[in-house]
This record gives sequence, structure tokens and C-alpha cells, in this order.
Amino acid sequence: MIRTPRLLLRQWRAEDREPFAAMGRDPAVMAHFPALLTREESDAGADRAEAYIAKNGFGFWAVEIPGEASFAGFIGLKSPWFEAHFTPCIEIGWRLARPFWGCGYATEGAAAALEFGFTRLALEEIVAYAVPANVRSLAVMRRIGMQFSAEFDLPGLAEDDPLRRHVLYRIARQDWRSRSATN
Ligand SMILES: CC(C)(COP(=O)(O)OP(=O)(O)OC[C@H]1O[C@@H](n2cnc3c(N)ncnc32)[C@H](O)[C@@H]1OP(=O)(O)O)[C@@H](O)C(=O)NCCC(=O)NCCS
Repeated sequence: MIRTPRLLLRQWRAEDREPFAAMGRDPAVMAHFPALLTREESDAGADRAEAYIAKNGFGFWAVEIPGEASFAGFIGLKSPWFEAHFTPCIEIGWRLARPFWGCGYATEGAAAALEFGFTRLALEEIVAYAVPANVRSLAVMRRIGMQFSAEFDLPGLAEDDPLRRHVLYRIARQDWRSRSATN
């Protein structure tokens, strides 16, 4: 569990399934993913996130905003599901329900997840990736100090699939430390 000034990043609970499924049905939240999620797909995703945290002690944590929302989305760390020139590695990722956009919550939670990765997990580097059109996600990466590294293609997608081309951002522990010292 991670506490920030406004958020709690915690293990998933049964009650998170319904609001998580509602996010998966929101076209704005899912704009840069292949499809909206059925209830079954959404529950399976929550199950996977919960099991990953139980096994590894970190993962894509459920985000709670105490006093405002018992579940607002997820933020966290995990290893990517595919192989690429930068794997194996740990990625940082986020997804919030729309009412919680525009408040800095993703940036606040992601900064805490980075700190967890570099201190508790002693990682050397953390990566993030998104399609170029996902400007909100790329802005979070830049706000937490990550830098553009390369473009790459997600494996398994057709050449003309708009979700194939991704941009990769990275931050090394050394750079995170120097940045934390000056902030
Ligand atoms: C990606 C996502 C989490 C980003 O959400 P976001 O609200 O843009 O990001 P933040 O929570 O960091 O909030 C930043 C915004 O809050 C504002 N803000 C207010 N208070 C702030 C604070 N204390 N700190 C930082 N920003 C603050 C910023 O100015 C910025 O405003 P803008 O919306 O006008 O740009 C969200 O768009 C999302 O869930 N998208 C769908 C899922 C997705 O695509 N995930 C990523 C896949 S790669």
C-alpha cells in the first residue's frame, strides 16, 4: 500500500469490479485501446492485477481517493506482457475514470510508484509506453521526469493497425535521484 497526499494505492477489492467495469465501457477511457471491455474481460483484468500484486508485492494498484472515491482507477508497476528491444523490464502505467482526470492524480500516483520502484524494488530503470495520440498519458510521463527514448511496434499487430506504433519513455534511477534532489 502506498499513501500520497491525496491517494491510496492499494490491493484490489471485490467492490472495485463494478466501477472498473464502468471505466472499461467508457469510450474516452478506452480511446487508445483495441476495444471497450466486456464485464467478463474487465473482471479478468482485475483478477490478473490482484493476483500479480499478491505474487510480487507490487503491480497495478487500485487507486482510492480517501473522502472522494473508493475506486478511481489503477496506477502501478509491472513487467510488460510482450518481448521487445527494451524487455525484460518494469513499466509504469495508469488508467483513471474520467471524473478524476484533470486533477493531477495520475501524476501524483505515478510519482509515488516511481519512488517505490527505485527505492523498495531497487530498479535500475522504469519504462512507459503509449500510442503517440495518447497525449494525456505522454504528458504524465514527462511530468514525472521520463524522457522519450524510441518508437517501437507492439508485436502481433497488423502493419496498418493504428495501435501498433508506440513511443517508449524511460527514466533511470540515477536521473530520478538527481531530479528528486533538485525538486
Ligand atoms: C492517462 C490519464 C491517467 C491521464 O490523466 P490526466 O488527468 O490527464 O493526468 P493527471 O491526473 O496527471 O492530471 C493532469 C491534469 O491535471 C492538472 N492538474 C491539476 N492539479 C494538478 C496537480 N496537483 N499536479 C499535476 N497536474 C495537476 C494538470 O494541469 C493537467 O491538466 P490538463 O488536463 O489541462 O492537461 C487519463 O487520461 C486516462 O486514464 N486515460 C485513459 C487510459 C489510458 O490511456 N492510459 C494510458 C495508457 S498508455
